[in-house]
Amino acid sequence: MKRTRGKASGQPPAVWERNAAGLLDGAAGFRRALLGWYDANARRLPWRERPSLYGTVVSEFMLQQTQVKTALPYFERWMRELPGFTELAAASEERVLRLWEGLGYYSRARNLRRLAQAVVERGGPPAAPDEWRELPGVGPYTAAAITSIALGARAACVDGNVVRILARLTADRTEHRDSASAAKAFTALAEGLLDPARPGDHNQAMMELGATLCSRQSPACVICPVREVCAGARSGEPACFPRLAPRKLEQREVTRVWCRRGDALLLHRGAAGARRLAGMHELPTSEQAGFDPAALADATELARRRRAITRFVITETIVAPRSPVRIRTGPELVWVSARELAGVALSGPHRRWINEILGRDGGDDAQAPKR
Ligand code: ADE
Repeated sequence: MKRTRGKASGQPPAVWERNAAGLLDGAAGFRRALLGWYDANARRLPWRERPSLYGTVVSEFMLQQTQVKTALPYFERWMRELPGFTELAAASEERVLRLWEGLGYYSRARNLRRLAQAVVERGGPPAAPDEWRELPGVGPYTAAAITSIALGARAACVDGNVVRILARLTADRTEHRDSASAAKAFTALAEGLLDPARPGDHNQAMMELGATLCSRQSPACVICPVREVCAGARSGEPACFPRLAPRKLEQREVTRVWCRRGDALLLHRGAAGARRLAGMHELPTSEQAGFDPAALADATELARRRRAITRFVITETIVAPRSPVRIRTGPELVWVSARELAGVALSGPHRRWINEILGRDGGDDAQAPKR
């Protein structure tokens, strides 16, 4: 194992390390207990009920940063509208982003479409995890998940859920810098525990255990299939594991402007090369719309919302300018009519905010701004 203190350094092995060695010695029993529980308790999910390589790829992309319950309706609709690599490869980016709207982290949708195009171009999907990793949006976790579940590859998945289980099983008190370094530290143990006969089910059983019984706040140790070998459960304080360095949150303030021309609304469209929001629409910030802050001094506040994105807590205030203002034009600032609004992809909660404001008062400004 990577973090070895023992043999490599001459120091005595850490507690977690002894626990990990014990787990590996009893790996056969661990796998039996885990898979027995999974066979009896696995949730019936559409990508498990009707398994296919394409369905596995789509579900794994959706589940990268989204919970199963949120992803379910998106998955069903996606599979109806874009049922295979060929259909996805041929779909416009606009359509793909619209289908993804509400799931967030839109680079996943763009990468999924590019992945389908690469699969079609190379005449079929690859087989080995390393080849999958060369495709857009596929990191070590996703490559292991896709190839183990759909192709039977012996590759272990290590995500936040799996780290939590392994940190508890070994009562690991190491403070990890972040979730990525914790995942790295547990990869060797995850690989050693993987059931070579049923790698895909083993990985899904670990994810399932993490999502259902071994939850972050209140682990259900009394009904856990592997409690007998869990040092964290024995410690009496399983929720203390894993230990991750506290994250510093940064506060941000953003002013967004609400500008109407007839029934059209001014939106900002992320540039094609943008890292996060390419092709996605949002209410423009005052800077994007080129507003002199003085022009907003007497603006009407329509809404104030807070949300957390990664390490930022953002307070967004949506204001309607009271006096006529000149709006900077350009390819990224677009007037979208009420009819067109349903067809454009809006990021995050913007559709909800827009509908709230439109529903309240039609969103009419005191004065329609000039161009
Ligand atoms: N999270 C990531 N992949 C998953 C899967 N296949 N089933 C349930 N949860 C998951």
